[in-house]
Amino acid sequence: MLSNKTIVLGITGSIAAYKGADLASKLTQTGARVEVIMTESAMKFITPLTFRSLTGRPVVTSMWDLASEFSVQHVALAEVADVVVVAPATANTIAKLAGGIADDMLSCTVLATKAPVIVAPAMNVNMFENSITQDNLAKLIARGFTIVGPEYGRLASGKMGRGRFVELEKILGTISQVLGRGGDLAGKRIVVTAGGTREAIDPVRFIGNRSSGKMGYAMAEAARDRGAKVTLVTAPTALPEPVGIEVVYITSAVQMKEAVTKATVQCDALIMAAAVADYQPKSAASGKIKKAVAGPELSLELVRTPDVLSEVKGNFLRVGFAAETSENLIEHARKDELERKQLDLVAANDISAPDSGFDVDTNRVTLIDKQGNMQELPLMTKREVADKILDRVVELLGKKSPREMTVEELYDNCKERLKALGVRLRGSNIGGFYGYYKKKYTLRVTQMEDALGNQYCTIDVRKADDSWMGEKKITDEQTLGKVINNYIKPRIVELEKQH
Ligand code: CTP
Repeated sequence: MLSNKTIVLGITGSIAAYKGADLASKLTQTGARVEVIMTESAMKFITPLTFRSLTGRPVVTSMWDLASEFSVQHVALAEVADVVVVAPATANTIAKLAGGIADDMLSCTVLATKAPVIVAPAMNVNMFENSITQDNLAKLIARGFTIVGPEYGRLASGKMGRGRFVELEKILGTISQVLGRGGDLAGKRIVVTAGGTREAIDPVRFIGNRSSGKMGYAMAEAARDRGAKVTLVTAPTALPEPVGIEVVYITSAVQMKEAVTKATVQCDALIMAAAVADYQPKSAASGKIKKAVAGPELSLELVRTPDVLSEVKGNFLRVGFAAETSENLIEHARKDELERKQLDLVAANDISAPDSGFDVDTNRVTLIDKQGNMQELPLMTKREVADKILDRVVELLGKKSPREMTVEELYDNCKERLKALGVRLRGSNIGGFYGYYKKKYTLRVTQMEDALGNQYCTIDVRKADDSWMGEKKITDEQTLGKVINNYIKPRIVELEKQH
């Protein structure tokens, strides 16, 4: 998903600079164009040649290098960037960015760019905890920068503390998430379930299944990367926690039902990729079952678990998976899943095939909707399958009447949609926030309540001289979409033309 994107990667003088090389390599492997800018002190730790070899692109090390294609126009990289990532970021660079100092190519680029900026701090624990650094980070957050990390762990000084450069997977996840803002699921809330539930026999043993959780995690990440707010309700898996997703950990089918009920109170779609156990022991033994007591044979009495998909109620889109080993896969998916569970879409897959189903990275599914339309997909990665399912989710959500949103959600959505258009946040006040677009317009979003107690938001636009250009009332997702498309976007396009 990062292919065709231009990522400007800023490397600063931290001992973690060598991990920046790994990051540059991983980003290049995704198909992104990676333009590296190194600060003077970064070059004391690692050489530009390393980055040049890994990215296949020249590395910018100075504003005054006449041979560089970028130094002539010192903000060229700021303009081509889809995202700027400063990783690792030292306390010094963070202070410069927070203070608007532009005395080297990296700080110039960050100050000049309209693209989102991600900062991954790495430093000594005392430097990180110092209130000056904390204030600087708070300033960056208030201006719409995304901060990822640092983590707690062993530092270069040998001490333990918070300051350790965050895991690269987290940076990669954050980049995908930030670039996905304003995608076709922007403003939507999606609940995804994953993994196989475990039903306790005693404190040590359980009844489980072979689900790895890979399909559900891929679904959750794909939805995130298309702009959705995602809650992932997951049974135990061996997978790392995804970034930018609210994760709820559960173990049993009963717990899954509870968590899904809670998560779907405000949601547009529920996608049940979890393998939920259909039966659980009638009662779990409180102590470990001993052979000497149980004897040569042990019988377990099993009872049905709740059927999460059919029992959780609400006005949201429902997507199920039908995992079968039978030849009547499609028939079962149609009758049992779509009809009995009242689903909008079902993804049927034959889990007996070696390349689809449990614990592999690929899947082969057939999508069947309520109207009986069938779409047989070829063998794909689970991530590709997830995107195909989400294509249908977007289409089906478009046909559905929008659900009611809380004013807080509406407010958040206004913010996200404006951010995606390149509006930089400047600060917030109670019940509202404001941002500016290229210093020409100020946009203010406010939460309001009318005399009858109906809550809504307003977006008002002012010119740089503070002259008022009008206010638009946002009562739901649809009016928000209209205001963004018919009112805000044309003004931004007009402004781009003038430049
Ligand atoms: N599911 C659920 N709650 C359950 C069992 C299944 O919500 N207790 C969901 C699964 O997450 C999946 C769909 O229902 O999206 C179908 O699950 P599957 O196990 O394939 O089928 P079942 O409905 O359990 O049918 P069967 O009797 O064939 O097991």
